[in-house]
Parts: sequence; C-alpha cells; structure tokens
Amino acid sequence: MVAPCITPEVYPEIDAIIQERGNDPSSLIEILHAVQERVGYLPQEVQEHVADRLGMMAGQVESVISFYSFFTTVPRGRHTIKVCQGTACYVRGGKRVLEEVCKQCGCGVGETTEDMRFSVDIVRCVGACGLSPVVTIGDDIYDRVKPTKVAELLAKYE
Ligand code: FES
Repeated sequence: MVAPCITPEVYPEIDAIIQERGNDPSSLIEILHAVQERVGYLPQEVQEHVADRLGMMAGQVESVISFYSFFTTVPRGRHTIKVCQGTACYVRGGKRVLEEVCKQCGCGVGETTEDMRFSVDIVRCVGACGLSPVVTIGDDIYDRVKPTKVAELLAKYE
C-alpha cells in the first residue's frame, strides 16, 4: 500500500485547527483528533509540525499518539471493519467471519486494502453478545453475521 502524500496545503489547515483551540498544549488530544480527521492519519511530519506549533517536543506528541489506540500513524481505509472476537462471538463463528473478511479484503488484521476502501480490525466485545457474531463497519452494526453474508455486507460500501 502506498501512503497518500501529505500535501503542503494541509499545513495551514492544521495551523487553523491548532489556533481554533488556542494554541494550547493541554488541548493536544483534541487537536490530534481534529488533525487525524482532516489528514486521515498522523505521520511523523505531521506530528513534528503539531509539536512545533505547540512548543512541545515531538516525542511528547508521539507518546500521546502511541498511548491511545484511536490514533493511527499509518493511512486507514475509508471504512473500518471491526470483527468481534470476544468469547460469545468467537464460539458462534466469529473466527470464520474474520477469515472471510480478510479473504474478501485481501489483507490481514490491522491492515488496509490496496484501494484504501477498508481497514480490518478486531474488537474484544461490543456489548451485543446476544447478537453474536457481530461485525461493525463504520457506525453500522451487523448481527448474527455468517461468512456467506460477508461479501454482501462489504458491497454496501464504496
Ligand atoms: S463477544 Fe462479541 S459482542 Fe460481546
């Protein structure tokens, strides 16, 4: 997968995001959220830019990013598929659903499809055990998913 380029035009937008939050290092998490939403991910050069603007060390920004799982330093697909592998889902076929998702996407867990359409993740329980096995795609939740239905689900997303 080729990482999308960070174009120069994005830096004034990052600066605006930082300014809107008062150039305040205590708003770092909120700033990183907004920057990730804009850029799609938080590569090294963006981390350094944010650190510079906030008067922080790049390592401080990096450690916050690595602490929180919702931040990513690699490009992500337009839709994130999360296949539940908690106990209830796992024993009711979640493992086979995950295998089928990976097969359909042509990538493994934690990876992104070549066309940047999907990223594939696992979760350990989404609190819907009675509806297992469960898959989420973006904000959509699918219950009692069978491997044979995976292709149909993915086809809903461009
Ligand atoms: S184990 Fe999958 S929703 Fe709880």
